[in-house]
Amino acid sequence: MTEKAFNIKYEEYSSLDELNAEDRELAQAAIEGMRGSYAPYSHFNVGAAVRMTNGQIVRGANQENAAFPSGLCAERTAMFAASAKYPDKEMVSLALVGGIYGRITDEPATPCGACRQVMAQYQTRSGKPMSVIMVGAKKVWKFEKIDDILPLIFDSI
Ligand code: THU
Repeated sequence: MTEKAFNIKYEEYSSLDELNAEDRELAQAAIEGMRGSYAPYSHFNVGAAVRMTNGQIVRGANQENAAFPSGLCAERTAMFAASAKYPDKEMVSLALVGGIYGRITDEPATPCGACRQVMAQYQTRSGKPMSVIMVGAKKVWKFEKIDDILPLIFDSI
């Protein structure tokens, strides 16, 4: 038996001001994206923004439905819209933010497993690391690649 471990690195910033200009712009787009949230059931508004290789930013927000599973998270809304709009471009990075009634959580919002799986596939498709910026009111986290938030990615088929 050999014991193995994952070494996951990420950066923590104390505010958006500490981010580089591109990441800050993407984080701000995610915050603006929250305005598109439709969350009459959870009242948890989530915004996301994706940066493409052509520099364009596509926003998304969670969309809920009375038939609960028919709703969709902000991150997948943003990624699917981005891929549909720019089918020949790749995703460079994604930012997300959330909070009850739009009040941004102190700790960064973290993406659900299904959204991580979708991120993983767009990263595989691109062949380059896709970074993720998780925004909170008191701190911001940046992960350089999806492998760091979804080890042992499923991409076998
Ligand atoms: N939600 C997201 O938009 N992204 C996530 O990564 C987790 C959860 C949404 C789904 C639902 O509308 C609300 O937040 C509460 O779960």
